[in-house]
Amino acid sequence: MDKLSQPRQRPEVQRELRRHFLRFLAASPFFAEALSETGWAQGTPPGDPKFAIPAAKDALSLLDFEALARQTLPPAHWGYMASGVDDNATLNANINAYSRIELRPRRLVDVSKIDYSIELFGVKYDSPIFLCPVGGHRMFHPEGELATGRASKAKNVMQVLSTQTSIAVEEVAKARGNAPWFQLYMPSKWEDAEKLVNRAQDAGCPAIAWTIDNLAGRNLETAERFRRNDTRECITCHATPNGGRRNTAMFTGLSGGGINPLDASWELFDKLRKITKVKLLLKGVETGEDAKMAREHGVDGIIVSNHGGRATEDLRPTIKTLPEVIQAVGNQIPVLVDGGVRRGSDAFKALAMGAKAVGIGRPYTWGLTAFGQQGVERVIDILQAELQRTMRQCGTPTVARITRSSVEAHLS
Ligand code: GLV
Repeated sequence: MDKLSQPRQRPEVQRELRRHFLRFLAASPFFAEALSETGWAQGTPPGDPKFAIPAAKDALSLLDFEALARQTLPPAHWGYMASGVDDNATLNANINAYSRIELRPRRLVDVSKIDYSIELFGVKYDSPIFLCPVGGHRMFHPEGELATGRASKAKNVMQVLSTQTSIAVEEVAKARGNAPWFQLYMPSKWEDAEKLVNRAQDAGCPAIAWTIDNLAGRNLETAERFRRNDTRECITCHATPNGGRRNTAMFTGLSGGGINPLDASWELFDKLRKITKVKLLLKGVETGEDAKMAREHGVDGIIVSNHGGRATEDLRPTIKTLPEVIQAVGNQIPVLVDGGVRRGSDAFKALAMGAKAVGIGRPYTWGLTAFGQQGVERVIDILQAELQRTMRQCGTPTVARITRSSVEAHLS
């Protein structure tokens, strides 16, 4: 990935950014917490006037935010977020696959009114775009998941909160006015799993998505390279000198026994199914076979995901996997997809391939890094404007009118 090998800021620029940052910190109500809990405190301020985009509204595409986040974040944090596994090939495959799908525009259709709202489990959202779970938002901005939550509320889009959230689910629910979906990392001890599930349910989360794509370990090599190039002292903010996380908000009251048990199986899913009163999804399904199993075991929905290329270097773009998963479960349950979406036209293509909703991860963390809530809102606005334009140009005024015949895919 070319961008990952960009040189760091020149020393004089770094010194000036740091001075600016210290002035910013001194004025910030988040000062104390930022220093004690978040590594973001060692970074540079969002929206620095020296950068090309002084305000979120000036961004023209999601990639403007990427450039800004790259300049703003401490190298270790940038590397952590930007990293895929091994050679980042799966991360890039997710993105590149969209350029192998062509649009099939239909002409002379009345597109004066466009409706891209969707309904999922009986809830109406203004957009098929949703915010995927990403851990530790305060690594990107001191307001963390509160800023993201407020943005998702303002835009009425679905948000999935990570188990690794830096702000507790109850607080995020308050900021949003209603609870987000909850992404579950399965604790190794079952009693901890029960506590986490009950806590999410008590907070009002209408759905829980168990992430099953990262149970066996991974090699975030790019993240590690950036961490080694970061001259900051990780231990100031982190639990270990190489950036290990302090117990995050959702781990309070748990035994500390770790997450992602290697012996996880469909029996464990059955146990989870029994205690989960809200909708239960599996996130990280990448084959039709597993989708069928999931359906047989009573899953309510599937998120086709490879963890943004951060789990297994399997080289399978999620947009390629999507049709086989849909074929395996039919129309019985919603299938969502994430990974590689950088344009509204990508979202259109995912909808055409059968996704009920389309998730973004890294792009909204770029917006969050640069401008907090406003940045996340602008990321959503840009994607929706691009989606709307694509819908108009393709003669598909509603999401239901976007079908398999709206695209021609060359993915094999
Ligand atoms: C967490 O989900 C990560 O990918 O780091």
